[in-house]
Amino acid sequence: MIRFTLFTPLFLTLIISANPKIAFSQLPPENLRVEYLKNPIGIDTNIPRFSWILPEKGYNLFQKAYQIQVSKSLENLLKNQPDVWDSGMVGCPDNVHIEYKGPALESFTRYYWRVRVTNQKDEISKFSEPAYFETAFLNPEKEMTAKWIRHPEKDDEPTQDDKRKEYERKRISPILRKEFEVTKPIKQARAYVSGLGYVELHINGQKVGDHILDPAYTVFEKRTLYITHDVTSMLQQGKNAVGMMLGHGWWKKTCTGWLELHIGYEDGTKEKIITDETWKASTGPIVSESLYHGETYDARLEKNGWDTPGYNDSDWLPVALSEHIPEKLVAQVMPPIQVVGYLKPKSITKRNDGGPDKNEEVYIVDFGQNMTGVIKIKAQGPAGTKIRMRHAELLYEDGRLNVENIRSAKVTDEYILKGEGEEEYMPRFTQHGYRYAEIAGYPGELTEDKIEAQIFHTNFPKSGHFECDNPLINNIRDIVLWAIRGNNMSIPTDCPQRDERMGWMGDAHLASEATIMNFDVAAYYQKWLWDIADSQSPEGYVPDTCPANIWGKKKGSPPWAIAYPLITWYSWRYYQNRRVVELHYDNLVRWFKSMERDEKDGLMEYCHYGDWVALEKSPMEPIGTGCYYWTAVVLEELAGVLGKQEDVEYFKAKKQKVAEAFNNKYFDKEKGYYCYGKDKDGNPYEGTQFQQIFPLFLGIAQGEYRELALKKLREEIEVRRNGHLYCGILGAKYVYDVLNDSGMADLAYKIVLQKDFPSYGYMIEMGATTLWELWEYKTGPEMNSHNHQMFGSVVDWFFGGIAGIRRLPEPGYKHFTIAPKPWDGPLNYAQAYIDTVRGRVVSRWDKNPDGSLTMVVTIPPNSTAKVVVPKKENMKVISKEKIVPIDANKNQEIFELPSGVYTFTVK
Ligand code: BGC
Repeated sequence: MIRFTLFTPLFLTLIISANPKIAFSQLPPENLRVEYLKNPIGIDTNIPRFSWILPEKGYNLFQKAYQIQVSKSLENLLKNQPDVWDSGMVGCPDNVHIEYKGPALESFTRYYWRVRVTNQKDEISKFSEPAYFETAFLNPEKEMTAKWIRHPEKDDEPTQDDKRKEYERKRISPILRKEFEVTKPIKQARAYVSGLGYVELHINGQKVGDHILDPAYTVFEKRTLYITHDVTSMLQQGKNAVGMMLGHGWWKKTCTGWLELHIGYEDGTKEKIITDETWKASTGPIVSESLYHGETYDARLEKNGWDTPGYNDSDWLPVALSEHIPEKLVAQVMPPIQVVGYLKPKSITKRNDGGPDKNEEVYIVDFGQNMTGVIKIKAQGPAGTKIRMRHAELLYEDGRLNVENIRSAKVTDEYILKGEGEEEYMPRFTQHGYRYAEIAGYPGELTEDKIEAQIFHTNFPKSGHFECDNPLINNIRDIVLWAIRGNNMSIPTDCPQRDERMGWMGDAHLASEATIMNFDVAAYYQKWLWDIADSQSPEGYVPDTCPANIWGKKKGSPPWAIAYPLITWYSWRYYQNRRVVELHYDNLVRWFKSMERDEKDGLMEYCHYGDWVALEKSPMEPIGTGCYYWTAVVLEELAGVLGKQEDVEYFKAKKQKVAEAFNNKYFDKEKGYYCYGKDKDGNPYEGTQFQQIFPLFLGIAQGEYRELALKKLREEIEVRRNGHLYCGILGAKYVYDVLNDSGMADLAYKIVLQKDFPSYGYMIEMGATTLWELWEYKTGPEMNSHNHQMFGSVVDWFFGGIAGIRRLPEPGYKHFTIAPKPWDGPLNYAQAYIDTVRGRVVSRWDKNPDGSLTMVVTIPPNSTAKVVVPKKENMKVISKEKIVPIDANKNQEIFELPSGVYTFTVK
């Protein structure tokens, strides 16, 4: 047994392994990633970054050096003769984002790689299992030869008021095709496919891959993405056919396709099939498609065999070249949208008062869960039979479909039967947010086996989990996770159902830490940051929605636009992504400067959306100024990351000036709390919850002001509102940190355990299966989505407060804190894990029947953690590993620990 004494990070290297059975030298690095992805094909960076984690077992494990080998030949790599690059043993403690430093990479090439490491005792691990990455276009200007093609007939131009009424004009959803011959044995084939709008690629009668709604939404004119598919096994000797079905999605003009099919033959020769003037175009069964309004598919118009060789396309038209060519065409390096599961109906009810005129015979299908996706349906009937499916989150009390809160979106898919046996349909180019569906025109009896809900969203890997013994808290977690998943559709969105579904920046950053706790969004955020950069105005303004769309296109409100620095900062802190800091720092400074132009003596009061959807409104001015302050805080840190000392000083000074001006103007000395301003009717705002929360969270409230604001906050929440939040989405994000870090976690528990209005529990009591947009239960035509992620921030506190895996001062969990709050609430156990870039962090605590507490934590290799074990007066902390604390008082004992699993008993 090892006694860890006098523990500080300096002593880490002196500790010997607590488990001598595990010989480090036998355990290779695991979980190899390139650009955050496992064995990616089609990356387009010249300097990819490698990451791995050290084997999970093993106490006190640190990386001292690494060796990376890269080879075109797997055989050579395994023989220890890498033919591209051998880094040699490089002294470096980082297992995250090690940049490739070998000779220039070649395009369209698969590289195998492996890594081994030494630990602090200079023991060398085995090499990892080999992994690979494959390049696509590394020199796009020279290498891309395909043309952007479209149907020769163009869509009508979008009108000014087109916004949500695209169905009023002619829009073509074409199919495009080409045949070609393969005469030699194929070694490998890759399809690089893109389009303006959506593209579904087909080869020899089959859809390529299992992605949905590709390519991802971007600011298309500036940057469109291409997707790489391995299509080797889809090609055949002799005649082949390649086809594309195109849809509009967020692209408002004529649909366009782009493809390069690269075939490598066994004899070493290569061939390219590209989109160009030799392709032919027609229209297919998709009569109309729209994200908001749904898809109409007339199966009678299917062109049988259009995507197979030998099809007679003599009546097809030659394609036209598109006039729209994006400035950049780059690789889609992030998880795709995919079907992640399905739901069978909970009930199917027949009624005769359906449809817009309340007189149709319909089925109302309840899938039991609000979600995002489409319906898959099977039917058999005479040709021309039209099945109409409308989607909604709500039913009226009498059981009819309520589409009022969907507003102008028609959310209607139609399938017209061709009359050939049992037919199956799943729409391609639309998406709905729904729990209920109304099915009209179904031939025969609609039974459970004929219909299911297909759930889809950006399929980022699950990377964390929280649970406890309180069903309400677990339920809150579930409705939040459904909302988060359904609102990430290649960009973070506000809602999936009504006529919006846009990249509202406020919603995205407020839910982002809850998202990061649960999912690996590193690559996804890296892409979204480009969407923000592409939406930034020349003056530096960042809009409220990115990509900017319909609303929120102009100068953004700071609490929305601040998503730009915050997502960059989170990418740095959680994923240690320094590259995004390098790439976006100048833009962030440009945004800061744009706010600076509105600054007067430290105050920056411009703000149009504030503590949105609060039950008790707060003034805008302190919110603008607070966001200005916060951006300075973030930029001070990011400038430091890049070693820009002058900027560090600049933002530090700015921060102080703003904090001072904030306190002078918004702290009411007479009343003794933050209280400022009057609403548009001249009524004073009073010292609302949010007015206290924001300066407390930001750290602007210091000393006496802090004490007074905390006192006021407790009064407001506990006494005046009986443990309920009346603030909006900003307050609901920041309140938990404030309470948690000021000894008021009891109040945080109180808030989350409420079941009456307004609370998360109230939503659940009212039947919510996804998180709502509002505290209130509303079902009418006004703004009331039942699937919004912006209040989802509460889940951060489950991980960071209840389970105690705290927010990070250092990037990538290099050093972090575990400080759970078992004693402040009524739970008996809680546990959470997060798969970090260094490995899995776990925190679990159990209250035992004898009144004692057991706490078990796991710290991943190459990390250290401060573990704060909470106790009540007269209790002792006993460490199973016999480690001693570095500090202790009557409420807690603090340990500084290297990697390992540690068990504490508090009694
Ligand atoms: C969206 C919100 C968004 C807001 C702007 C709404 O219509 O759905 O979630 O953030 O507008 O304040």
